[in-house]
Amino acid sequence: MSLKNELKAHIKELSELETPFYVYSEKILKQYAKKTFETLSPAGEVFYALKANANPRILEIIRSFGFGADCVSGNEVKLARKMNFRRILFSGVGKTEKEIREAKNSNAEINAESLEEIELISELIPKSEIGIRINPGIDAHTHRYITTGTEENKFGIPLARSEDAFVFAKKTGLEPVRIHFHLGSQIFGQSAFLEALEIAINLADELSEKGVKIREIDMGGGFGISYENDKSEFLLSGFASEVKNLASEKYVLLFEPGRFVVARSGAIITRVLYRKSGSKNFIVTDCGMNDFIRPALYGAKHRVVQLSERSGRRTVADVVGPICESADFLAKNVEMNLPERGDLLAVLDAGAYGYTMASNYNLRCKPAEYLLKEDGEIVKIREKICPEI
Ligand SMILES: Cc1ncc(COP(=O)(O)O)c(C=O)c1O
Repeated sequence: MSLKNELKAHIKELSELETPFYVYSEKILKQYAKKTFETLSPAGEVFYALKANANPRILEIIRSFGFGADCVSGNEVKLARKMNFRRILFSGVGKTEKEIREAKNSNAEINAESLEEIELISELIPKSEIGIRINPGIDAHTHRYITTGTEENKFGIPLARSEDAFVFAKKTGLEPVRIHFHLGSQIFGQSAFLEALEIAINLADELSEKGVKIREIDMGGGFGISYENDKSEFLLSGFASEVKNLASEKYVLLFEPGRFVVARSGAIITRVLYRKSGSKNFIVTDCGMNDFIRPALYGAKHRVVQLSERSGRRTVADVVGPICESADFLAKNVEMNLPERGDLLAVLDAGAYGYTMASNYNLRCKPAEYLLKEDGEIVKIREKICPEI
C-alpha cells in the first residue's frame, strides 16, 4: 500500500493529533531498509547516513537490518554508539578537536577532509587507521546545494593533491586505509559513480606502489528517489553488480545511503488554516519552513495530497505556511478539490531531511514524530520540542 493510502486508512486517528507532525510508516521503512541492504550488501558494506533521519526509533529499525552508521557530527557519532551500530564512520569537513577525541572513544572511523585535519588526527589519535575523502571533480548533475564532488565544493581533498595527502598521512604515523568520496545527493544515473570509482581504484593502485595499502573504497551515498511519483528511483540492483565487478576482490566497497532508505516512509501532516483567493489562490497551512524546509531550501517539489475527502470545485493554489517569508511554501500550483478549514493535508516523501532540518525559527516548536506501526497502531516517537520562553 502506498503511504498516501496508509495515511487515508488512518485519517480518524491522525485527525486527533496536534498538527503539524511527522508520521512514518513502519512497513514502508522496512521495505526500503531491506531492499537497500539486501541489494547493496553483496557488493560491500552498507552504512545508513544518520543525517537523513536520526530518530532513535527509526534508527533501531534500520540498524536491525545490519546497517553500519555514517555520521557527520560528534552527536550523531554518540547516538550511533548508544544505539549499538556495529561500525561507525565519521565524515565532515569541519570536525572539532573535541569531536575527534570523542570519535576515538566511540570507536568511530574517521574520514579526514584536509591536510590540517590529518595532522590534527595524528596528534590526537596517533597511529590510528583513517580514510581520506577525495574530491574527484565530478559533477553528478544534481541541485547545486547538494552537489559535493566538484572542485567548486568545499568537500574533500582535490584529486590532484590526493596522492600527496595519503603519503603525508602515512608519514605522520597514521594508517590511511580508505579512500572516500561522496558526489552529492539525488543522483539517478550510475555514470558519475562509476567514473569516481575508477578514479579511486587508480589512486589506490598507485598508492600501493608508494607503500600505502588501501583496503576500502567508500562510495558515499546520494541514491535518488523521485518526489513526483512513488516509482522512479535510482536502480540499486544493476549498480551493485557493476561496482562490484569494477572493484573486483582488491578493494572492499562501502556505501552510505540516507535518503533512499527513509524518504518514502515519512510524511508531514498539516492542517488547513485559511483559504485565500484572488489572481493567485493560497491554502494557508500550519506547517512552516521551520517544520519542513526542503521546498524553500532546495526548491524540492513534494506531492501534497488531501487526506480529508472533498468533492467540491477544483482549484489551483499555492500551499503555504504561516511564516513571514515568501520562501515559506510547501508546494506551488497544486491542483486539488477546494479544501475546508481544518482539513488535513500530507506532504509525501518527507521521511528524509525533514525532521532533521527542522528548527525553532519564529520561536515555533519543532513538530512531534509518530510511527504508524505494521499492526496499525500509531505511537509517538518524539514529543514536539518548543523553545524556552
Ligand atoms: C558524507 C555523506 N555520506 C552520505 C550522505 C547521504 O546522502 P543521501 O541521503 O543523498 O544518500 C551524505 C549527505 O549529504 C553525506 O554528506
